Amino acid sequence: MNTSGADENLVDGSARLLGDKPVGALGFGCWRLVGDNVAEATTRIETELECGMTLIDNADVYGLDWGGKAFGESETLLGKVLAASPELRPRMVLASKGSIIPGVPYAANALYLNAAVDASLARLQSEHIDLYQIHRPDMFTHPAETAAALDGLVQAGKIGRVGVSNYTRAQSDALRHFLKAPLVSVQSEYSLNHLEPLRDGTLDDCMRHDTAFLAWSPLGGGALLGQDLPPALGKLLDALAERESTDRAGIALAFVLAHPAKPVALLGSQSVARMKAAQKATQLTLTRSDIYALIEAAEGVPLP
Ligand SMILES: NC(=O)c1ccc[n+]([C@@H]2O[C@H](COP(=O)([O-])OP(=O)(O)OC[C@H]3O[C@@H](n4cnc5c(N)ncnc54)[C@H](OP(=O)(O)O)[C@@H]3O)[C@@H](O)[C@H]2O)c1
Repeated sequence: MNTSGADENLVDGSARLLGDKPVGALGFGCWRLVGDNVAEATTRIETELECGMTLIDNADVYGLDWGGKAFGESETLLGKVLAASPELRPRMVLASKGSIIPGVPYAANALYLNAAVDASLARLQSEHIDLYQIHRPDMFTHPAETAAALDGLVQAGKIGRVGVSNYTRAQSDALRHFLKAPLVSVQSEYSLNHLEPLRDGTLDDCMRHDTAFLAWSPLGGGALLGQDLPPALGKLLDALAERESTDRAGIALAFVLAHPAKPVALLGSQSVARMKAAQKATQLTLTRSDIYALIEAAEGVPLP
């Protein structure tokens, strides 16, 4: 059997494009960035930027868990970091999201979005959000209204680019149809713990439309590092980690970076040591047969 040429390294740690804006292959997620310790938060943001994680992904709703107390808490903390260290702002691509309102629970109508962006800008102590994403689809707003609101915010200079999160392909298509601005990113859960985007068309659509794919919870929110895994997956992650002189997190992140859609993996760790260690994932080697073996181990069934 001739396998020559089949087993190349698929891990691609090069820059990704959000429209015309390059960002690192790893980004920093602010979901777990809560509290009011500005010095500690500054160290985390500085570390991320030094490690090339230039996309900083926040959301107005972050702050309601992970020890946080309020809607807007994570944006407020990041805003204090930016106010105290304004030199950090031009080094990052600042992303946020809106549309989740606990108790409603979703709104992407014009009136709400205009107020939500103003509130995010105030908390972030910024004049501009580089990427604004609809966090979850509001199925009861016509996409033409959401698109017009987002286009208006781009024209007003309040947001630079438009993205979506947790949208189905059809929902993205409908918004794209009405938007004048390009839809530059789609954010969905993707990891060895959640492989749906491989087959539900999300990643294929991103490649077809040149839309950046942002992978949330690339370590399964930490689940891929624990004991509660399919035994074959744990064993294979450990074996590959030993071969590549890394840890399970490194292999799990490299798996995300190996897809030809060139995903950005949004790292959630708040540990400076683990952020630095994660950087190595961009330089690991996973061949096509490693990748398919990981999928088989994660799914517990052989590929046909
Ligand atoms: N759009 C959405 O609906 C949505 C939903 C969820 C998340 N997100 C985005 O995705 C980002 C990441 O999500 P996530 O926090 O679930 O991501 P993750 O990177 O899959 O998980 C991070 C968790 O794993 C833990 N962890 C344990 N060992 C680790 C190691 N060796 N290396 C790194 N982490 C380790 C971290 O703890 P330590 O902090 O102690 O390291 C942290 O609790 C969020 O911040 C947010 O931006 C978006």
